[in-house]
Parts: sequence; structure tokens; C-alpha cells
Amino acid sequence: MKLKYLYLFIFAALYIQCSPDQNADNSNNTQPNESKVVQLDDHSYSKSDAITKHLNLNLTADFDKKILTGFARYKIQNQNATKIIFDTKDLNIQSVTLENDQKTGFKLGQKDDHMGQPLEIDIKPTTKEVTIYYSTIPTSEAVQWLNPQQTADKKHPFLFTQGQAILTRTWIPCQDSPGIRMTYDADITVPKDLMAVMSASNPTKKSGDGKYHFEMKQPIPPYLIAMAIGDLEFGKIGAHTGIYAEPSMLKKALYEFGDTEKMLVAAEEMYGKYLWDRYDIIVLPPSFPFGGMENPRLTFATPTVIAGDRSLTSLIAHELAHSWSGNLVTNATWNDFWLNEGFTVYFERRIMEKLYGAEYAEMLSLLGYQDLEADVKDLEAHDTHLHLNLHGRNPDDGMTDIAYEKGYFFLKLLEEQVGRDKFDKWLSNYFKEHAFKTINTKQFIEYLTESLIKPNNVEVNIAEWVYGPGIPNNCPQVTSDRFNLVDAAVEQVQTKGASTIQTRTWSPHEWLHFIRHLPTDLSQAKMKEIDNAFTFSKSTNCEIQAAWYEVAIKNGYFQNILPEIDQFLFEVGRRKFLTPLYRAFKESGNLEVGRKIYAKAKPNYHAISVQTMDGLLGVE
Ligand code: BES
Ligand code: ZN
Repeated sequence: MKLKYLYLFIFAALYIQCSPDQNADNSNNTQPNESKVVQLDDHSYSKSDAITKHLNLNLTADFDKKILTGFARYKIQNQNATKIIFDTKDLNIQSVTLENDQKTGFKLGQKDDHMGQPLEIDIKPTTKEVTIYYSTIPTSEAVQWLNPQQTADKKHPFLFTQGQAILTRTWIPCQDSPGIRMTYDADITVPKDLMAVMSASNPTKKSGDGKYHFEMKQPIPPYLIAMAIGDLEFGKIGAHTGIYAEPSMLKKALYEFGDTEKMLVAAEEMYGKYLWDRYDIIVLPPSFPFGGMENPRLTFATPTVIAGDRSLTSLIAHELAHSWSGNLVTNATWNDFWLNEGFTVYFERRIMEKLYGAEYAEMLSLLGYQDLEADVKDLEAHDTHLHLNLHGRNPDDGMTDIAYEKGYFFLKLLEEQVGRDKFDKWLSNYFKEHAFKTINTKQFIEYLTESLIKPNNVEVNIAEWVYGPGIPNNCPQVTSDRFNLVDAAVEQVQTKGASTIQTRTWSPHEWLHFIRHLPTDLSQAKMKEIDNAFTFSKSTNCEIQAAWYEVAIKNGYFQNILPEIDQFLFEVGRRKFLTPLYRAFKESGNLEVGRKIYAKAKPNYHAISVQTMDGLLGVE
């Protein structure tokens, strides 16, 4: 064994001994093991001896009662099991049948705050089919039922689901582990004037009778099953790409995401064929708790990225990139979430670089580095490891910039060590060899060591990056000449005044960098001067709005622009923006102002955002 591998081995061995993380790392979770029945991951009750292979979902959406009713029929792979276990949360289970409509016994286990309840169903060793008749409740955590007022056109109600990480079980009883893949088809009935779409083959027109049929022929994990229902129209971007949006949003969205087909082509050129047939985007109402969600064939996107100038489309590159990293090669458990997101951020920035140049990608990387530094400062050390131990916790806790940005910089380091050509070939192979499979961190490190590190004879402190805290010393340095000029402008604003700055050619990214670097102790007069000069408070770019409002709250300037902040927090439900703004209220001694705004805005937010803000603001 060469010295460097010895070093890696010792570090990893030491780590395994002193960290509980490794115990949670179940390396049996990709393949069912004939001899041993194992629980597939920490966040699912399902067991390996009876697993789901295909779902036939049949649901009716009742917008008056705000419930989904119907059944989930599964084809299962059964290794002589006499029980099959599903994950459920807040579902009303009516009955369960096996083949030939034969009723069978079932039992709901104890409730857990995060995990919900196991549904244990009696089966025979020969059982191949299980059907669960059920309905959801109006407050199902995955589903948001919106009234017309909460949509763009204000005429029709809307519904969307958000499955990741463990919420699919709140609208479909399922084996809700990213380690279990299945194909699905669905028959969905909705009010006649609405259209339903899913992470599957989709209609391009309303059906007239409110009935829709969907097929997802590639096996996917349950967190990627998604549905939206609303007054939707379809518009084409390119041969394989298009947009679903409410009528008044469609034209704007088609312009904003006009480069999507080019992104798809660029992605395929770098890392291999797109294996999901079509790539469409649905623009959701602003309460969508995320920027984007990579539901296969149909990315779910917040309307807040429609800035009018295509400046925030790296989000589309990101969700598209998940078609390889995440959807094709999937993290085995939520402890391995960085494998989904770190690769995706890396891939996203390569797409952006290919389309818009290195300077653009550098700015994105630097903004990402700033996010990473902020998270490293805020989080407890053990939450700054790439590989996490989320046992007994909400997997949402792992959704920090560590997975995204530390993951990105680790991959960038590998790229720099072996050179881009070799790295790209390796990454293409990684996607190809693991297509439609899951991978955990341990397996990944083995693969990385054998297929990239050893053949190229390079030395990388993998264990420190993956199992250690913070940002390792050899983190790649990114610089941006354009940001250097912005840094000088931040100084100049304070010494010579806002009107002396030349900013005509600045992109929103440069503005964002500028705002992020304003001190938090500027005088009211200076804040006003800056606002008058650059009209941040009236910006229509959500990134700039959110960054500026945060500075305004921290500087005590917010009283001057309270209507704008109020409006933003009332309309936008994207957690990435809500968290820093409400936190700024809290930490600047203005908790009551924050609570008052929240009380009014809360009914507009999705359960995911509500849960985080309730905790943050100490309300129920
Ligand atoms: N898959 C994530 C969203 C997610 C992660 C939902 C974990 C639930 C649990 C998605 O791909 C994502 O990362 N979205 C980002 C945007 C992206 C450009 C970084 C977001 O929503 O902010
Ligand atoms: Zn992502």
C-alpha cells in the first residue's frame, strides 16, 4: 500500500472508530439481501424482504374538502415475507387488498414526529400485489391546496406536492426511501377546468373530462413522485423542452427559460445522454417552498426566478443537472445527500460556464463560497461534514450549503487535481455505471479511489473533506475580477458616496455581491443614500430584494421600507428567503415585528416553510 493510501486508510479507520456516523451508514441498502432482512435507511420503516417495484396510483382531487382519495396498487418483489411495511404520515387507511381483491389485515404503528407511522400489511410468501385504499387530510405536509387568490391569475385553485425528503408518505403510502426505485403510472381525476401534471409523461392540453393518465417508465425513488393541478397551459421551448404555467405567466416564463434546450444539449455533450425523454418546467405559485425541485421530466420551479432578464436561470441548470446526479444516480440515504447536491452544483456551474463563459460561473462559485462560509459559521461542527448522521432527526436538517457548496468545492478540487479532461471522462462514467442505482458515501469513496485517485496517482485528503468539519485548507480558491471591482465600490460608497459609482454594466450577481458586503452598521442616512441611488427596495429581482431587505433589517433601516418587506414576505414562500429575513428580525431585537408579519403571511406558506418559521420565531 502506497503511503498516501495508507494515510487515507488510517484517517478513515480512526474516523469510523470515533464517529457514530458510520454506524448509520448501512451498506446493505442498495440491494436486498436474501439472508438478512434489513431496514433500508434511517428514515424509512420499510424492510428489504418485500419491496415495491411498480406503483399504480389512482386518485381524485377534491378541492372543496382538500383531500385526495383513491388507492395505491403496488407490484412487489417478495422474498418469502409475511409482512410488507410502508411509510405513512397522516393518511386515513380504509382497507388493504392483495391479488383478486382479497382483503387482508393491516396495522398502523406508533407515530413519530418526523417519520410518521409504519403501515404493516399481512401478506403471503407468494403475494406479488398489494392495494391500499386511502385518503389524505387537508393539512397533509407534502400537499399545498391554494385558493385562487394565491395563484398568478387569481381565478382557479391550485395544488402542488413536494416529496423530498420524506413527505411523499403524507400523500401516498409508500416505501419512502431513496434506496427503493419503482416505475409508476397514475390515473388522476381533477375538476374539469383544471389540468393535472406529474413527474411523468404529461398532457399538453386539458382533457375536458378532468381525467388524466400518466406513465413514468424509468424506476425512480418515491421522493421524486410529484403532482400539480391548476389552470395550466403548455408552451414549447425546443424539441424536448417546454413550460407549464398559468396563462398570464406563460409568455414571461418562455422568455426567461428560453435557453433550456441549449442547457440540455450542453449537459448531454458533457456527461452523456439525457435518459428521461422530455425535460419540461412547471412554474408554480410563489408559495412553493423551494427555488426548484428536480421532479423527473418536470422540474417544479418558483416564479420568483422569473426576473425578466434571465439572470437567475442557473436554477434551471441545477434542476436539469439532477437528471443525472440525483435522479439517475441517487443518494442511498439522506445522510448521503451531498452526493445528490454537491455533484449537481458542480454540473450546474459547468452548464453555466459552457453557455455563458467562465466569468459567469466564477461569480456563481464565489457567491456559493460566501454561502458556505456563512453556514460553517452558523452550524455545529458535526453538521459541517459532507457525510451526515441524521439518525432520529429530520432529514431537512441536512439541507444546508454544506451539501451543496462544500460538495461542489470538493469536486472542483478533484477536477483540479486530475485535470478537466480526465475528470469529465470519469464523471460521465460514474453516471453511466451507476445509472438507475443508489450509492452511499462509503461506496462512493471506494469508487473514487479506485477509478480516479489511484489511476491518476494523485493525493487527496478525501477523509478530511468527507468526514471532517469545516472547510479544509486545500479548498480551491475562486477569484472574480468583476467582484474585485465591486469590493472597491463597497469602499467607495462609504468614503465618497453612492453617486460616484459607475455601475451601468453590473449584472444582478455583482449587485448581490455588493449588497452582501455592505456593513451592518451603516447610518440611516447612508442606507437611504444607497437606496435612492440604486433603488434596491423597488427591485424586481428576488435575490436582490431578499439580500437588501436583510441588510435593511440588520441596519435598522427596515422601518422605511416596511411595506415592501411586508409584501415580499406575504407573497413569497421560498424558505431560502424567509429564513434569513425572519432570523434578521429576531436577531436584531425586532422579533415582534417579524412575528406580526408572519402571523399574516403564514396562511400563504407551504407546510415545509411553516415548520421552519414556527421553530425560528417560537410560535405554534
Ligand atoms: N432537491 C433540491 C430541493 C430540496 C432539497 C428539497 C432537499 C427538499 C429537500 C433542489 O434541487 C434544490 O437544490 N433547489 C435549490 C435551488 C438550487 C439552484 C440550489 C433551492 O430550492 O433553493
Ligand atoms: Zn438540488
